Amino acid sequence: MAIQDEFKQALSTWASGVAVVTTADQGLLYGLTVSSFTSVSLDPPLVLVCLATSNRMPAMITSAQRFAVSILGRDQEEASSYFAISGREPTAEFVEVEGDWTPGGMPVVQGAIAWLECELYETLTHGDHSIVVGEVVAARATEAPSPLIYYRRAYRGVTD
Ligand SMILES: Cc1cc2nc3c(=O)[nH]c(=O)nc-3n(C[C@H](O)[C@H](O)[C@H](O)COP(=O)(O)O)c2cc1C
Repeated sequence: MAIQDEFKQALSTWASGVAVVTTADQGLLYGLTVSSFTSVSLDPPLVLVCLATSNRMPAMITSAQRFAVSILGRDQEEASSYFAISGREPTAEFVEVEGDWTPGGMPVVQGAIAWLECELYETLTHGDHSIVVGEVVAARATEAPSPLIYYRRAYRGVTD
């Protein structure tokens, strides 16, 4: 088995939440489903996402200098699938999925269980992905209890 296949098989056992990274650059909105979201630092408050350099999102974030992260709930599989469709173009408004706005004017996914608005802090490129680090300038969480989970290439919910 090629090392990339071994890598994917091993990483598929890492259960994660599902988030959508969004940005608005020159009036055009774009979003991308990610599992590679994590917190980095509390002071300053930093988070990161790893984004394929083949996707337009890292360049859009570099241009916009801002992005947001929406953490999806168990009932948002459709939003996750939509923002994972290959080859979508940026649009003036979200299509298929309802959007909201952060105080700083970043689009987020309506109904997300939490969102974070970030200013671009640093971008590091390693291999075929860019590690995009953002400083969190605003964040909200809802009372919605149930996150969407991605594990072994399938959507799941949390059960105790
Ligand atoms: C659950 C899930 C998690 C994903 N996580 C990431 C991620 O962390 N980073 C990334 O670049 N792409 C991730 N993707 C893939 C992108 O959402 C998208 O499908 C891919 O970039 C294809 O679009 P493109 O061909 O326009 O680049 C994920 C997809 C799914 C369904």
